[in-house]
Amino acid sequence: MSESAPAKGLYIKTYGCQMNVYDSERMADVLAPLGYGVVDDPAKADLVVLNTCHIREKATEKVYSELGVIKRLKQEKAQAGSAMTIAVAGCVAQAEGEEIMRRQPAVDLVVGPQAYHQLPELIARAHRARGERLAADFAAEEKFDALPTERRASGVTAFLTVQEGCDKFCTFCVVPYTRGAEWSRAPEAIEAEARSLAEAGVREVTLLGQNVNAYAADGLTLAGLVRRLAKIPGLDRIRYTTSHPKDMGEDLIAAHGEVEALMPYLHLPVQAGSDKILRAMNRAHSAESYLKLVEKIRAARPDIALSGDFIVGFPGETEADFEKTLQIVRDAGYASAFSFKYSRRPGTPAAALPGQIPDEVKEERLARLQALLDEQQRAFNLAQEGRTLPVLFEKPGRHPGQIIGRSPYLQSVHVSAPDRLIGQIVPVKIASAARNSLAGELAMETA
Ligand code: SAH
Ligand code: SF4
Ligand code: F3S
Repeated sequence: MSESAPAKGLYIKTYGCQMNVYDSERMADVLAPLGYGVVDDPAKADLVVLNTCHIREKATEKVYSELGVIKRLKQEKAQAGSAMTIAVAGCVAQAEGEEIMRRQPAVDLVVGPQAYHQLPELIARAHRARGERLAADFAAEEKFDALPTERRASGVTAFLTVQEGCDKFCTFCVVPYTRGAEWSRAPEAIEAEARSLAEAGVREVTLLGQNVNAYAADGLTLAGLVRRLAKIPGLDRIRYTTSHPKDMGEDLIAAHGEVEALMPYLHLPVQAGSDKILRAMNRAHSAESYLKLVEKIRAARPDIALSGDFIVGFPGETEADFEKTLQIVRDAGYASAFSFKYSRRPGTPAAALPGQIPDEVKEERLARLQALLDEQQRAFNLAQEGRTLPVLFEKPGRHPGQIIGRSPYLQSVHVSAPDRLIGQIVPVKIASAARNSLAGELAMETA
């Protein structure tokens, strides 16, 4: 049924990190043989999957409000004589599956991040008896074995999970509990998937892992894996995310100076600048060791665009501690960053710490941090004006005749150029920079 309309509509809504984006694609892959085709309107769906995120309270609460909306669609469908199955997947499903079932009776099944390969079977069971629930375990290995290595990529860029789980147990974070222990996929399986993506026209792949630079399988580190994938014809750009400072090996740093396909962009969260807070977070690095690391990476790849994550208002954070976060931002220098108010997550050690910070204080600190990060991002973008950068074009822009691509530094670049350049890497002269994007023109005549 490849070209005809799909027999059954599948609507997937994705929250959270890139790994959830990858997982959503793979859920569509395992459901395709059952006749499910992706639709972009939940009202047209026979099966709705919410792929959820548990990282902060707000992310979790969104799921419950979205479920209220979907429930009404399910009721309307039932009145019209057809059925809708509602599945909740992802990290909220893993963390509080039972609560989801209790709070929203319209949910037919919940499935954690390591068990979604069982969706076909679960859906069949849910159709037989409503209220089926899966106690998902952490058998990441089994999941990857059950997924097809063939990818039905439709774009120019793709995500590819190579590592999953986390053993770091930062005291604020739910991920070790929702994604399980660190585990790396076999290089052969990764290579097969990467080749299938390249054959489908993908030019850039982002290797994903909660601690991707902790990758270790068959004696291969992430650096070894990158070098291996860089040999695949057509795969011109490789990125990876997210890295932990503790796992930033010498060989990976060296690869940044040596492997042409490895893009000069690194997401290396530090979270905070005060050693007292870093210790309380169980980060296993100091402010100074982080800055030394950044210096080493810049020695290997001077133009690297550094990105990070920050948390303000961790329990016990004083004004002086917070100022150290501002200081580490000034010292490291970021091309982009994500920053968050600390969110107290049930079951994590930090939730029980004394010295929880009032929301107004977090709000005020976040605003100051974001002002500084915005200024740095703007400066990094402005520094590209007048330069000619290789841009991988990904999609049409919002204005007619415009296409959008990415610079090596992951900046969005808007150019007036024909659609046929989508999928190609083309030199672009950067004319102007805004906070979130660049604009430029083709630097040469294209045939
Ligand atoms: N494995 C990745 C991603 C973790 S989640 C890593 O280690 O970087 C992404 C970001 O969310 C984290 O880096 C952190 O900055 C933020 N985060 C995690 N838990 C949080 C919490 N309880 N409150 C606020 N931000 C949090
Ligand atoms: Fe969470 Fe820390 Fe693990 Fe990242 S390294 S996923 S922040 S526990
Ligand atoms: Fe959220 Fe789970 Fe990713 S909690 S950030 S979806 S690993």
